[in-house]
Parts: sequence; structure tokens; C-alpha cells
Amino acid sequence: MASYIKVLSVSDLPSGNMKTVVVSGKKIAIANMDGEFFAIDDTCSHEQCSLGSEGFLDGNIVTCGCHGAQFDVTNGKVMSLPAATDVDSYNIKTEGEDILVEI
Ligand code: FES
Repeated sequence: MASYIKVLSVSDLPSGNMKTVVVSGKKIAIANMDGEFFAIDDTCSHEQCSLGSEGFLDGNIVTCGCHGAQFDVTNGKVMSLPAATDVDSYNIKTEGEDILVEI
């Protein structure tokens, strides 16, 4: 059964930034878009670079640092080649200072 797991504190992730976390053995990229948090798979669907560690966030779009593929952090949809496959997105919420992801 899915449950929410704390992955970060709000103060760990300033607006406009991303971070990679490992939850239940899965690498997930957490994004702070203007104070709203989103969670997608960390691994780029092109050649497996880390979106959370090597990507650049601009608004709702993360650009992979390796070859420039783009994804929408709000839903994991691929927005630009060379990636052709969406990545998974996850439910996320805050409780006070805690950021929790549903896994
Ligand atoms: S690994 Fe992300 S664009 Fe190539």
C-alpha cells in the first residue's frame, strides 16, 4: 500500500531548485517551483542522467544536464528531444516543515 514518506525539509530546497532523494530504493527528483513542490523520477529517460542533480529548473521545465531533453516537473511529461518517453510523477505534500512523497 502506498504511503507518504518524508524526503526533505522545506528549508532544504529553495525555490527554483531540485534535489535527488532515494525513497524505498527509488531515485526521485524533488522540485520547488515558486514554493510548490513536485516529484518525478530522477532518471532521465534518454540515457539515465540524474535530473535532480544534473538538471536545470526553469519554471515548470527541467532541462537534463547531459543532452538537453526537457520534462514538465508537474507531471513528468517529456517536452523536448532527445528523450522520447515520459518519466513517472509522484504525489507530494507538505506538513509543516516536512516534504512527503507518496510511494
Ligand atoms: S541523459 Fe538526459 S538528455 Fe541524455
